[in-house]
Amino acid sequence: MHLHGDRRIYTGKLDELVCLCLKVQRSKILETIEELNAVTVAQVRRNCRAGGGCGSCHEEIARLITEHRLNLSLDFGNHITGEDEDHSHDDLDFFLAQESSGKLLENQVITEIKDFIESEINPYLAKFDVVAQVIESGEELVLDLKGADQELKYTLGFWLDHQFHKQFPSITVIIA
Ligand code: FES
Repeated sequence: MHLHGDRRIYTGKLDELVCLCLKVQRSKILETIEELNAVTVAQVRRNCRAGGGCGSCHEEIARLITEHRLNLSLDFGNHITGEDEDHSHDDLDFFLAQESSGKLLENQVITEIKDFIESEINPYLAKFDVVAQVIESGEELVLDLKGADQELKYTLGFWLDHQFHKQFPSITVIIA
């Protein structure tokens, strides 16, 4: 269930038009998230119309929501000031690059993924009252997000994509 629009790059300025389609500035989106204590892109869209067009701003709206809820500074690599991600490959990444395509994920990798979910993902998802569980680890990793409806799954999908991509670049994550 991934409906990401085209990737855009942002300046991060408050007067920046994050949503070009509906002409909504970053400051308005932040205000809306704050006021509603919003947890989904759809809530923001319904309230201030941002995100109601092509969808290319959804990633940034989702990033702002997640930042707000987790009280963290998040870099999804979509800002002009951000450093490019370092894709230095450790042993696990090398293993995955060699072995994962078209095959079942190996037990060792599944264990690494489950540990990662336990220690790095679920403590944060708890702030959304959501728990991630692996429901299938075949050619792709299928996650269930218990406690999340479709709107929240969509919104959290952007953050999860980014977290998994940093840790396991070769794995495709699907939210059930
Ligand atoms: S830029 Fe926001 S919906 Fe198109």
